Amino acid sequence: MSGAVPGGSPLNELSGRQPAGRALLQPFYLSPEIYRNDIELMLMRHWLCVGHESTIPDSGSYFVFEIDRESVIIIRGNDGVVRGLINVCRHRGSRICYDASGKAKRGLLVCPYHAWAYTIDGALRSHPRPNGTIASPLSCLSPKEEGRLSGRPKI
Ligand code: FES
Repeated sequence: MSGAVPGGSPLNELSGRQPAGRALLQPFYLSPEIYRNDIELMLMRHWLCVGHESTIPDSGSYFVFEIDRESVIIIRGNDGVVRGLINVCRHRGSRICYDASGKAKRGLLVCPYHAWAYTIDGALRSHPRPNGTIASPLSCLSPKEEGRLSGRPKI
């Protein structure tokens, strides 16, 4: 290997030290900087094949795809469209799906931490209140906003 590697000068320096026709130098396997460059310069600039849609034939069926520090739920919606949802709960940041694959029960993805529930298109559906009742997202809005969303203006 010879020549410069795109990115910072340490990479160029390491690339310059790489003997031609030999196994890669150890830092190519262990360096966090080189790993970050691989992710940003190679993987994140192109479409990625994460799986085949035939593995999620029904609405609500999903698999989890992990890349770098991200976890993505690949899920088929009620409209048949396959979507990618970030596997992070908007409440406190827990992962929502820990299983590698599965099917949303009753059309919902429920966070295992505090039971916030999301529809399979990623919208927040409901969350439990401290008194044990279930709140819908509308209850988080002010009365004026509720009225606007429901078509019944309130002041
Ligand atoms: S972190 Fe998901 S419900 Fe609290």
